[in-house]
Amino acid sequence: MEDRAITTSHGFSEPHASPDADPSVLQIWGGNSLHGHVKISGAKNSALAIIAAALLCPEDCRIRNVPLLVDVKRMGQILTALGVKLKQHDDILDINASVIGQSKAPYELVSQLRASFFVIGPLLARQGVAKVPLPGGCTIGARPVDLHVRGLQAMGADVQIEHGIVQAHITGSNRRLKGAKIYLDYPSVGATETLMMAAALADGETTIENAAQEPEVIDLANFCNSMGARIRGAGTNTIAISGVPKLHSTDYSINPDRIEAGTFLVAGAITHSEISMSPVVPDHLTAVIAKLKHIGAQVIADAPDCLRIIPGDSLKATDIETLPYPGFPTDMQAQFMALLTLSEGNSLITETVFENRLRHVAELNRMGADIRVKGNNAIVRGVSILSGAPVVATDLRASAALVLAGLAAKGKTTIQGLHHLDRGYDRLEVKLLKLGASLQRVSESADVDSRAKISSPASNV
Ligand code: EPZ
Repeated sequence: MEDRAITTSHGFSEPHASPDADPSVLQIWGGNSLHGHVKISGAKNSALAIIAAALLCPEDCRIRNVPLLVDVKRMGQILTALGVKLKQHDDILDINASVIGQSKAPYELVSQLRASFFVIGPLLARQGVAKVPLPGGCTIGARPVDLHVRGLQAMGADVQIEHGIVQAHITGSNRRLKGAKIYLDYPSVGATETLMMAAALADGETTIENAAQEPEVIDLANFCNSMGARIRGAGTNTIAISGVPKLHSTDYSINPDRIEAGTFLVAGAITHSEISMSPVVPDHLTAVIAKLKHIGAQVIADAPDCLRIIPGDSLKATDIETLPYPGFPTDMQAQFMALLTLSEGNSLITETVFENRLRHVAELNRMGADIRVKGNNAIVRGVSILSGAPVVATDLRASAALVLAGLAAKGKTTIQGLHHLDRGYDRLEVKLLKLGASLQRVSESADVDSRAKISSPASNV
């Protein structure tokens, strides 16, 4: 096998591969067992919201344990485009939003990162005006922002959507949002976070009923409170925010990424390997750990912030229904499906959060899985082996699922569409290599399977 190139991480400063560059693919030779300990990075979905929340503060903010991800780099680019000063060194990001040069987020950046919509609440709260392009849908669903908009309107903002741009401004004379009682039709993570940030500087009390309870919401609330905000009840379904006139500087460290940790737990289970990981908050993974134990694996806390997975002799089938936290996380659905393709028996997976988050089924079936989709249900019939194949990632968590399947499959798997993976996993290949996996990232033209796919007539249809 060719020498394995150690892949490089995607730091903030690293220039984006130009669109016409030869895209890379991930080659995985399955069958290795893994061993050792893996370091879990900061939580992507905390980092994206917290970076946006730094816009609320007119002083220096230091954010630690920031994961090196393309999405985080893009969020930094959006703040830079708004005239905010950012400096990154290793996993520390210094932000100074004392001056926000403009309140219009650039379309070309927003269209690449849904989470950039998070800037609307802080921009409105700080500037009294915000113009943010509609983030638009993505492969997993329509991703509307009606709950964000309705909440801001309840707080006194005039919000119009024209030509794909959400234009919001505060109508009150004092240019401050007003506290309001808001009920969310659905416990939307993003809407909860947008409204929490907007309410931090509003006049008076805001309550958010039927709020999202995800750990990333708590992380964001803790970050805002470290700047002097007064947010209570984050992590429950009712959040109360007493607006304050101004926030102050902070030095804050982001929680570890529960989805990355869950992905590595599945990596241990699917390769029948015992591996450990830290830092982790075990309580953030209750539903995932319960399901791993149900299918026969053991998950042990070696220390308060360290988990170890010990695989069972075989994998039993189980049913999964994705739900808002503390239910089974939708962001672990694809990874767990990869695991269940090799379990004994039939599993039913129901995706209730997003309307189109089963696109990884076709690619897993190309590897020998036996999965049928009916609406938002996937019926997984366990098979004894998966076989390596050329596959294409369709979204972030689907790409992780294909990596996991490739680690367990017989033979070589080639994964295209790595831009999805790089959005949400910090140096995944480097971490897997250190655990003993056989994989490397090469240019597509260097991969004979991809070349064959490109050249075969069928693929040109
Ligand atoms: C956040 O997305 C996460 N992203 C997602 O992680 C995660 O899957 C999701 O929460 C659910 O946990 C970030 O935090 C950056 P939602 P978000 O608003 O906020 C509907 C990953 O892989 N909805 O809770 O967009 C929506 O259509 C990503 O890391 C409305 O109808 O999720 C969806 O069906 C993927 N109107 C449901 O709510 C709205 O105004 C859940 O969406 C908002 C949402």
